[in-house]
Amino acid sequence: MTTQNPGVNLQVPVRHMDFQFDAKDLDPKMYRNTEFASAIFEALSIFLTFGEDLVIDTARYHRQFVKDPEMKQRLTALIGQEAIHSKMHNEFNDQLAKHRFPVPLYRFLADKVFEYGLKRLPNRMQLSLMAGIEHFTAVVAEYMMKHEEVFFESPDEKQRALWMWHMLEESEHKDIAYDAFQQLSGSYSLRVSGFVMATIIIMVLVPLAGSVIPLIRKPSNALRPAYWKDVVFSLELLAGREDGVFGSTMGHVMDYLRPDFHPNDHDTTAYLDYYKDKLLHPQTGLLTPYLVREFVPPVRA
Ligand SMILES: [Fe+2]
Ligand SMILES: [Fe+2]
Repeated sequence: MTTQNPGVNLQVPVRHMDFQFDAKDLDPKMYRNTEFASAIFEALSIFLTFGEDLVIDTARYHRQFVKDPEMKQRLTALIGQEAIHSKMHNEFNDQLAKHRFPVPLYRFLADKVFEYGLKRLPNRMQLSLMAGIEHFTAVVAEYMMKHEEVFFESPDEKQRALWMWHMLEESEHKDIAYDAFQQLSGSYSLRVSGFVMATIIIMVLVPLAGSVIPLIRKPSNALRPAYWKDVVFSLELLAGREDGVFGSTMGHVMDYLRPDFHPNDHDTTAYLDYYKDKLLHPQTGLLTPYLVREFVPPVRA
């Protein structure tokens, strides 16, 4: 769907959450009751905390060069939202570890990749990578908002709340990193380089790491026909052209390569309004029991 950019949103709130995750209530088959597809999302949960930390550091570093007070305010909102995503997913990942997910190993590997690789990239490349990563989270968030039923097959209410809250906020702030990149650089070739790097991380490395989790957790899965059936079904859920998370959104992913692309060309305002009411309504909101407080960072001249 292509629309005119509806203008910048200065009302992106930072929401402090407290989920109190408990391993005994955690459903390791959260995504449509599958082992394989769920493992891909749980791998994402582990690795995205590192991506978020990179986004936070990059946004903080570049905020000092931004002249426009509104752009500065939006970067502050982005930093605030990502900081709480990272914190909440880390708390969740600690509980995943108790279900034999290889959380310490993957944290160790990600730490090395970020510390010795991505964080040593030139600042302008990190800015482009940040915009590229945020494009992918915006695509997944839009898919999830359009397919909210995927979260309701599991009885794990807190994990559902975690993912739905995260997806809502990814969509709320989807244009901030991109606008910062355009203001501070605007180079098309640099934007494409960051996109290619983000694509490799999110479409290759994370799924690869996720795909071996069920065999690490339970090596006997390799001999179970039921597990391989799960893999086939999961691949359809992930890569299916009709309705798969990644398979059906490739057009949106590749739209980033259009020279005049803007995140708001994909209008999600109606979904955001619907989702906010569903999640944050003071009486009936799914997130209401876990919301501690929220505030919108002020614009400072
Ligand atoms: Fe995030
Ligand atoms: Fe984000």
